[in-house]
Amino acid sequence: MQSIIVPLSTLVMDVLGMTTPRNILVTSALPYANGPIHLGHMLEHIQTDIWVRFQKMRGENCIYVCADDAHGAAIMLKAEELGRTPEEHIEIVKADHIKDFSEFLIGYDNYYTTHSEENRELSEMIYLRNRDAGHIKEKEITQLYDEEKKMFLADRFVKGNCPNCDAAGQYGDNCEVCGATYNANELKNPVSTVSGKTPIEKKNTQLFFDLPQFTEFLREWTKSGTLQPSVANKLNEWIEDGLQPWDISREAPYFGFEIPDQPGKYFYVWLDAPVGYMASFKHYCDNHEGVNFDDFWNKDSTAELYHFIGKDIINFHGLFWPAMLNGAELRLPNGVFVHGFVTVNGEKMSKSRGNFIQARTYLEHLNPEYLRYYFAAKLTAGVDDLDLSLEDFMQRVNSDVVGKVVNIASRTANFVHKNANGLLGDTFDNPALVKEAQAAASSIAEAYENREFGRAMRLIMAIADNANQYINDQAPWKLAKEEGQEAKVQAVCTTALNVFRLLVLYLKPVLPELAEKSEAFLNVAPLTWADTESTLENHQLNPFKPLMQRVDKKHIDAMMAAAQADAEDAEEKAPAQEDNAQEDYISIDDFLKVQLRVARIKKASHVEGADKLLQLTLDVGELGERNVFAGIKARYSPEELEGRLTVMVANLAPRKMKFGVSEGMILAAGPGGDDIHLLSPDEGAKPGMEVR
Ligand code: MSP
Ligand code: ZN
Repeated sequence: MQSIIVPLSTLVMDVLGMTTPRNILVTSALPYANGPIHLGHMLEHIQTDIWVRFQKMRGENCIYVCADDAHGAAIMLKAEELGRTPEEHIEIVKADHIKDFSEFLIGYDNYYTTHSEENRELSEMIYLRNRDAGHIKEKEITQLYDEEKKMFLADRFVKGNCPNCDAAGQYGDNCEVCGATYNANELKNPVSTVSGKTPIEKKNTQLFFDLPQFTEFLREWTKSGTLQPSVANKLNEWIEDGLQPWDISREAPYFGFEIPDQPGKYFYVWLDAPVGYMASFKHYCDNHEGVNFDDFWNKDSTAELYHFIGKDIINFHGLFWPAMLNGAELRLPNGVFVHGFVTVNGEKMSKSRGNFIQARTYLEHLNPEYLRYYFAAKLTAGVDDLDLSLEDFMQRVNSDVVGKVVNIASRTANFVHKNANGLLGDTFDNPALVKEAQAAASSIAEAYENREFGRAMRLIMAIADNANQYINDQAPWKLAKEEGQEAKVQAVCTTALNVFRLLVLYLKPVLPELAEKSEAFLNVAPLTWADTESTLENHQLNPFKPLMQRVDKKHIDAMMAAAQADAEDAEEKAPAQEDNAQEDYISIDDFLKVQLRVARIKKASHVEGADKLLQLTLDVGELGERNVFAGIKARYSPEELEGRLTVMVANLAPRKMKFGVSEGMILAAGPGGDDIHLLSPDEGAKPGMEVR
């Protein structure tokens, strides 16, 4: 056995600056320890893992850490519901998470938990440094309090209308519709998600991180070019709207870290969560010689730091986190890489639709590398959502990975074994084809580096297309039947298998298992990026074994059926807790939030310059008078309206219109225009009466 490897000369390495590896620390957002990993999480961890594996293949010193986000009231309540202590609960969940991620071949250097001593120390350090620098303020605030459960209701325990855009069903920390962040007590029409009751307001002193002090700093930071343009724009909007102090404390009962100088108060989960990145890395450093924590985190660090996150948590990573780091005299991220959300067959994943696919459910039916490839093929450096269209998924994987790449080896390997006992030849029938495949290395590398994975996959598949075309043209299976063509067959297959080796190398960040099996077949050491410079000649192969099965529709169908069953299961266990059920139905609580009242039209008049509107003064009994603009002019004259009773929405947020502020809405049936019919209560109804 002999292999000729043409090494990249050290001179070239110097010129390319490859002799001193970059020090890079990479993170994925820390999944909450209260639920299973799903395909949305998987997009993020697959994206990060591909990038990290690429860096490692390039010889960079790239360290990838993650952890479970173990704190917060949601996790505390989840544990209680399951009859566990929070500590037991987060242990069990973490083990499940690690199992899912590792079967998806996510290669963390450390996967930890935010409920660790390292995290406690680092969170305290960051808090104390900020406090000593004057960035923490005490403030008495009014908080929502659940009298039945005897607890202050923070973030996830209260739902209501967004104070910014009025979207219904929003949690008390940020709005999923407009992205605004706010405090729970700013929600309109709040309802406790713990008891279903309307909470009361109660005074309480809390600690605030004084974000406004960082306005100028953040303005600069967001402009520094480290963020995707759309992310920078979004952050700038928030900055220009005016930053608010951020409430970083929570009352007991809370599962988290007690604040050092504030007994009975705990750090809000989002304070210690990003510090969890540091803590996981700290734990790694303590277990690995030669990696120094401070070298990565000191203000003057030359190491690179990148966070991969989803678009829903931009504010935490683009505002609070850099400000906290800055306030604690620590280094800043070099990049916050934001991705969009996974949809399934064009729809948002949700249990009520039965398309909420857990990582485990997927793994029970399909090969994880299928999904890794599919996500890679569709990923860009942008924040657009990514649709997992199952039909497309099957076709793409079958045609690209199985049909194009694996096929090259399966069509040629056996001839080399038959003709030459598996020894590759020493001549290429088509050296240009191999050269071309090698020459693509730099553009593929650039695409990986810039997180343009879809582009990388297209470049790789273009090489595979050429190779398949070449094999079709040469048809070694025909040549093999002809007299005296052994040398030609050898040279053709040696060419094809060299291209195959390069394809596997290029795909290795995405398909590490396929690469490993191929390395075993090719009988080579683990491929690195430098191996693009070499070729295999006079080299002994191992017997060829099938490398990957085609995606079978049966298995996709079985997975979707299982996802549906999971959802029904969850529905039975916790019908009231089901978040997404309200996408198609509203709960009675939601309905009761709409305050309908009987109103008497006291006055009606034309509005100057408006073709459709009438201005109404409504008498709503105990609620007083309301000014409302209604688009009913085509049907009603002001005179016929005055004095009559109708029904109005009394708690609609006031809306500024061209002609004035509209303070509610009257109810009418019909499509509009002159086909519109005001609702009227039966006789006996009085202005101000509630309508149910
Ligand atoms: N615990 C916080 C993150 C703390 S980071 C210091 C959290 N956890 S999460 O489990 O809700 O979400 C973890 C990551 O998964 C986030 O980046 C989030 O954007 C991502 N995704 C959750 N659902 C997703 C999809 N459907 N699609 C893509 N990513 C999604 O937020
Ligand atoms: Zn909103």
